[in-house]
Amino acid sequence: MMRPLIVLSCLLSVSLAWNSNYFPDNFKFGAATAAQQVEGAWDEDGKTETIWDKFVHQNPDRIGDRSSPDIASDSYHKYKEDIALAKAIGLDHYRMSIAWTRILPTGFADKINQAGVAYYKKLFAEMKANGIEPMVTLHHWDLPQSLQDSYGGWLNETITDLFADYARVCFELFKDDVKIWLTINEPKNLCHSGYGTGGGAPGVRGSGVNEYICARNIVLGHAKAYHIYDQEFRAQNNGRVSIVIDTDWYEPNTNSGEDVEAAERVLQFNFGLYGNPVYKGNWPEVIINRVGNRSSLEGLETSRLPAFTDEEIQFIRGTYDFMAVNYYSSNMVEAKPDADIGDPNFDSDISATTYRESSWPTCNGTHIVDTPWGLRSFLNWLKTTYGDIEIVITENGRSDKTGVLEDDHRVTYIQGHLSACLDAIFTDGINLTGYTVWSLIDTWEWSGGVSIAMGLNRVNFSDPERTRTPRKSATWLTEVIKNRCLEDTCS
Ligand code: BGC
Repeated sequence: MMRPLIVLSCLLSVSLAWNSNYFPDNFKFGAATAAQQVEGAWDEDGKTETIWDKFVHQNPDRIGDRSSPDIASDSYHKYKEDIALAKAIGLDHYRMSIAWTRILPTGFADKINQAGVAYYKKLFAEMKANGIEPMVTLHHWDLPQSLQDSYGGWLNETITDLFADYARVCFELFKDDVKIWLTINEPKNLCHSGYGTGGGAPGVRGSGVNEYICARNIVLGHAKAYHIYDQEFRAQNNGRVSIVIDTDWYEPNTNSGEDVEAAERVLQFNFGLYGNPVYKGNWPEVIINRVGNRSSLEGLETSRLPAFTDEEIQFIRGTYDFMAVNYYSSNMVEAKPDADIGDPNFDSDISATTYRESSWPTCNGTHIVDTPWGLRSFLNWLKTTYGDIEIVITENGRSDKTGVLEDDHRVTYIQGHLSACLDAIFTDGINLTGYTVWSLIDTWEWSGGVSIAMGLNRVNFSDPERTRTPRKSATWLTEVIKNRCLEDTCS
């Protein structure tokens, strides 16, 4: 007779293998966009200029196809169609963002623009009527230009209070509509291209100095918003708050100690610079040490990395209810000797060479490579580095330049990444509860303009009506969500 323990373990392994094509009941599917990229109506109904509006109006040549976000996907007028598309796919949540200057045209909290409030109220009502949960980003890079002009934006600590005031206004206005709040999107991109290289709005340059000042203010601003929610809203509204942090995955080129350390260092400078303060309370040790050493070799009296006080560390630590992360691509990493001391530079602080294998699939040479194994490694790294915390993927998706409706490459990409999610959940024991495709519809893709398509649904930007058409990826994802399963054999 077979021993009961063996029978039980056989049953368990059969049921696990069977289950691992199915998404757990608590796993939610969503898609995302952001205000600057889809709303358009840049100066309509009282909305004022953002740093991106000004950047594009002043430097049209900085955008690949010289397109502007003035109209973008026209979601300000076509939001009902967007929600209908989300509903058709069967999405659980729609991640979108509020435009700060639509709610507070001066940037300050003392003057609320009721037309802007009415727009988001209608949008949330439409989501509710269609059973779609709003996942709302407060700041997706579209800082009021007025606050850039008068304060220097994210380089001035005052911005942390102004952002917190704006957050409080939104928490109050939309307390009955929104349960999932994301304070700030991808601080790395905001700080690096906005204030380091100057490649994005507001186009300020100051590599090796500004990224750290910006990071400090982002983390403090986020923490202030989190505490406001915690103290003034959580008890009645019972929502959840986090910050969206992104990174590519960085894989060591060899098993040598130097390459492994270099890959870890790149992850810390890209992700840990924001993640470590929020999840653990302070800057990562490796960044404190490296920037501190290089600063003193440069003859500076204090580190270019501004320290947190003990009080600030207490204040920042643990300001999340779940981890919200964006992941798109992978890179290989090789150690390289420290750069000579010269002008400060963020990349010299890291000291590593990164590159992509030419065999990794990309689409028409756009910025994303299809490496789903990197997502699984990243999720495991998060657990090892920060502990067993609930994770939601708030962006993942694939770009192309043709905008084809038969987007098999996007299906392959999403399929691979969802499969990596299942492996992470069932094999690696990661507490992953959600996956969000970037993007629900084609958007104005920052410096890529409207020539980079990423949507499950196509937007025809040459048509004044901005007609939307579902792509093959939308149809495919609809089936996956309906069956809660990745394989054709599930249904
Ligand atoms: C950003 C989005 C952007 C997407 C695709 C992310 O870095 O949050 O705004 O459109 O990547 O490039």
